[in-house]
Parts: sequence; C-alpha cells; structure tokens
Amino acid sequence: MDKIRIVGNGPLSGTIPISGAKNAALPLMAAALLSDEELVLENLPKLADTTLMAELLANHGVAVTPRGNGVTGLRAHDITNFEAPYDLVRKMRASFLVTGPLLARYGEAKVSQPGGCAIGTRPIDLHLRAFEALGAEVDLASGYVLMRAPKGLKGGVIRFPFVSVGATENALMAASLAKGETVIENAAQEPEVADLARCLVAMGAKIEGIGTRTIRMEGRPSLHGATYRVLPDRIEAGTYAMAVGVAGGDVTLENVPANLLGVPLETLREAGLEIDEVPKGLRVRRGAARHRAVTVVTEPFPGFPTDLQAQLMALVATAEGTSRITETIFENRFMHVPELMRMGLDVTVTGRTAVINGVQSLKGAPVMATDLRASVGLVLAALGAEGETVVSRVYHLDRGFERLEAKLGACGAIIERIKG
Ligand code: UD1
Repeated sequence: MDKIRIVGNGPLSGTIPISGAKNAALPLMAAALLSDEELVLENLPKLADTTLMAELLANHGVAVTPRGNGVTGLRAHDITNFEAPYDLVRKMRASFLVTGPLLARYGEAKVSQPGGCAIGTRPIDLHLRAFEALGAEVDLASGYVLMRAPKGLKGGVIRFPFVSVGATENALMAASLAKGETVIENAAQEPEVADLARCLVAMGAKIEGIGTRTIRMEGRPSLHGATYRVLPDRIEAGTYAMAVGVAGGDVTLENVPANLLGVPLETLREAGLEIDEVPKGLRVRRGAARHRAVTVVTEPFPGFPTDLQAQLMALVATAEGTSRITETIFENRFMHVPELMRMGLDVTVTGRTAVINGVQSLKGAPVMATDLRASVGLVLAALGAEGETVVSRVYHLDRGFERLEAKLGACGAIIERIKG
C-alpha cells in the first residue's frame, strides 16, 4: 500500500488548477444510464472513484469511451445486466446511484447494499423510500436490494425527513423518466445536485426549482444525449485554501468562482486568511501572523460542508485561541482526531463536538488515513508541522484528490509518494 511522505516546509506559493468535482462526476456518470444516446462529460476528474464508477457502468453494458483531456463518452445503448456486483459496490457508496436510472429505464435493478468510507452506518432507506413513492417495489434479501417497477415508475410526492445528497440525486434521475409530475420536498441544495439537474435538463428533462428545497419535475418518455461539463470541485478548492492557512503563503486556485465556496470562504476569512476573486479564480494568502480560532457546525448546503471538517481541524490545530467544531451530518466522522493527536493536536471531544486549543505548531509523526477527507486533513497538518510525517493507507486519498502530490509540490511543498 502506498504512503505519502511530507516534510513541513513553510509557505506555499504558486497556482493550483482545481479539478472537476468528484461528487458531481459520480451522479453525472450514472445519469448516462437514462438514455440510449451518448452522454459526453467534460472536465471529468481522474480518480479511483470515477474509474470505479466507469467499471461499474461498463459492467452494466455501458460503452465507456475516454477521449483524453478529461472528456469521456458514456453510451447506455445495450444494457444487459441490472445487477451491480458486491465487489464493485462495497468499495464505493455512490455506486448506489445506478439504481435510480436502471429502475426508471428498465423497471428493475439489483444492487448489493453499498459500502464506501467507514464513517457511520450510512443507510440507504431514503433512496428506497423515494423509489417507493414513485411506485417501485423494494425487497431486501441477503445483502442485496431488489427494486422492481414492471409497468414503469409513476410521478409522486417524495418528502425527505432530512436532507440527503445521494437520495435527492437518485430521486431526480428516477423521476426524470417517471410518468407524470414529481415533487421532491426537502431536497438537497448542494451545487453537485444542481449540476446533475442541469445535466438532466440538457438531456431533455423538465425540472423546476433547481438548487432549491422543492424540486418539481415532469417525467419524459425518454431522454437524449448531451455534452456536459462537470462543475469545479469546491471541496478540493476549500482543501487547498486551508493548506495555505496551515502552511502560510500565496496561492491562486484556478477555475473556481468564489460563490461556489460560500460559507467555507467566510469561515476562512474569519480565521484570518485573505481571499480575493481574481480573473483566474481565487487568490488565497496568509502572512506571517498566526491565524485565528473559529466555531463551525457542519450542515447541509449552504452550511459548512462535512467534507471540509477534517481539513478545518488541521487548520485550527495551530490557530490562536480555542475553536469548536460540531459534526452534525455523519456519526463517527472524527476518526482523524486520534491521528492528529499523535502530531500534537490539543483537543477534547464530547459527543459530536470537538474543542481545540490551538498550539504553536504540530510535530511530524507516522499517521494512518482512515477515510477520504480525514486523510487529506492529515496531509494538511503535515504541511505545517515540524519535521517529517508519513501518511499510510493513502488509497483513501486517491479516491477523491487528483494529482495531490503534484499540485502541492508545484507550490513548494516537500511531498512524495512512497510506492508500497
Ligand atoms: C454525499 C457525498 C459525501 C458528503 C455527503 C454529505 C457524494 C458521492 N458523496 O454523500 O462526500 O459527505 O453527501 O454532504 O456525493 N442517510 C440516511 N439514509 C439514507 C441516506 C442518507 O440516513 O438513505 C444519512 C446518512 O447516513 C448521513 C446523512 O443522511 O448521516 C447525509 O447523507 P447523504 O447526504 O445521503 O450523503 P451521501 O449522498 O452518501
């Protein structure tokens, strides 16, 4: 298993191109199953997760044609297989996103109960509830979920009791081919959900209220092909902005508009970072002065994203004052805490809240990545720490960060991959 070695080396300086968003790319790829014409996706990030999704789709019979330069064609002309095998599904929770399109277009889907990061139990009940509201029959048997709608899905009202990104996406895809009108209440408003909805519109779907809590749509008998560009990764951008906060310096994040980041940008400004919109993207600076503590609660969009929580903890580890971070989205998403403590983090966790007393500096140590966002949090901490840090189990990192070592290395970080 590969490891990453980092030596804290002071300020970062340069330009980092921000890739297409992983969390937009995965549902967009699944949306290809909704049409027998080709969906061409541009700005598709090259990640372990997008590679796995391509494998999963190919397994269903989708023709996947990489055209280079982040462009991939996906054509679901001949779907032969409605069952996603356990081996593929257990590695990535987002694989469950194939069920909505398969069910809507072919009236059946069989998928193993999904896996993914080890953060909490992560059930799928809301997805299934949405399918049932559209008239599907759902059975759970020996680790598999069987979904059937032999006469096709019918529009209906889907009321989510709380916000789920994936369930909203599955509902959007399923309802785009259902007969009649569907209303999704308490829909997730994440930009990646809106990106999927816009792509569905480009494929011929009729959707109102994109990016809001209530989405209304009119199902279509079929969708057509389209060419669609994946939106930039706000989590990747926020992560590198925080890297500048940790290590200091002056870095321009290319291809990312400020309004995509919203609340995290306000938090980082409060912590003392200077962030300006420039023609190329966002310029992030932190001078010699120590950054400041912040209080943050993770929430569905437009709140502070859970996917930046571990990185924020790495940032405030060395901030002046006491920070409070409360995680409300996932249970068990503080797995980076014991690892950061090995580097000198001063923290007390009570329930879902971590109280962090900023220390002058962290110290390098051997640490272990436990999930995708936690692992990049450790990388950030290491950038500002004294001495060497070796992060093991970096396969988690490869799921969501494209060319991480190259991007940080180009800004002066001492970071290398040790093949293992
Ligand atoms: C997506 C993102 C992930 C992000 C998360 C929250 C992708 C591929 N992944 O994950 O990076 O951290 O949104 O912003 O886009 N829940 C249920 N039942 C369900 C579904 C979810 O109880 O059927 C719970 C989950 O356990 C969690 C909460 O709802 O506590 C939110 O999860 P959800 O928004 O569905 O996350 P994902 O779509 O899995």
